[in-house]
Amino acid sequence: MKRILTGDRPTGYLHLGHYVGTLENRIKMQDEYEMFVLNADVQALTDNFDNPEKVRQNVINAAIGNLAVGVDPEKVTYFIQSMIPQIAELTVFFANLVTVARLERNPTVKSEIAEKGFDKTLPLGFFMYPVSQAADILIVKGEIVPVGEDQVPHVEQTREIARKFNSVYGEVFPEPEAVVGKIARLVGTDGNAKMSKSIGNTIYLRDDEETIKKQVMSMYTDPNRVHPTDPGNVEGNPVFIYHDAFNPNTDEVNDLKERYQKGTVGDVEVKEKLVQAINTFLEPIRERHRYYEEHAEEVYEMIEAGNKKALDVAKDTMNRVREAMKIDYPFGL
Ligand code: TRP
Repeated sequence: MKRILTGDRPTGYLHLGHYVGTLENRIKMQDEYEMFVLNADVQALTDNFDNPEKVRQNVINAAIGNLAVGVDPEKVTYFIQSMIPQIAELTVFFANLVTVARLERNPTVKSEIAEKGFDKTLPLGFFMYPVSQAADILIVKGEIVPVGEDQVPHVEQTREIARKFNSVYGEVFPEPEAVVGKIARLVGTDGNAKMSKSIGNTIYLRDDEETIKKQVMSMYTDPNRVHPTDPGNVEGNPVFIYHDAFNPNTDEVNDLKERYQKGTVGDVEVKEKLVQAINTFLEPIRERHRYYEEHAEEVYEMIEAGNKKALDVAKDTMNRVREAMKIDYPFGL
């Protein structure tokens, strides 16, 4: 059975972007693969080191989000990054195999640095988080990595690190492949490529019906369409991107698109149908979310079982790494 590793950065509640980017693939793939899902608290601390309370709370929120959408702890090993110290150890060894120049070229890191306004304040830990992410993946010898589009450069960098390690020290690691969700990058409700809590352009998996209504009714549509009788554009139109992603009634979606392009449907009708679709989709998820918020012990149980399994695998990998790197000394402590 092929091995999967993927993960979440616990900095907020999981949202619809996470769903189409990676959660949906987790649910689909959990039966056919040996799946590990990592809760990346160490990575979250790289740009939230001064806000540990936020990371701590969102570790639980991310775990609940996974359970709520149907990631099944019977099938999936769900674990916490900081509780597997072998990941930190492997990160240090991988850091030797990556140049600063290569990290500077990573497009995702580049845009995050710009966005966060890091200049002289760029933490080394944040700069090198792709190296730590390579260790996340390779500590369990992950072969497939279901992720959103923004994460593909990190998987590419992981492949390079694996290749370099194998050529210098001998064959230990697979070269993992990224698998991107059915919608590579879900835009925010305002059409912005980046979803962000501070902009308020995000729909969370736990949002209630009223919040969904408010968010959808204020969504951006075709900016050039002034009257409902103007022919409108459905390409790149956030309302239709969301319809395609969350409305399973394709006849309804096609009819709306046709009428939108002809100028025979108003934004309100298109949005009201989207409110319906998203609420139907989220109802069971929202309910399970609430259940696990009230049953923290079940969440802890999943994590404890996962940590144990991940630790065994990680120890095994590090034994192989030490052997390959000739630091498996004949003496002990
Ligand atoms: N960087 C990912 C994100 O922001 C989270 C993550 C951490 C991850 N480690 C990973 C994803 C390993 C895939 C594989 O969503």
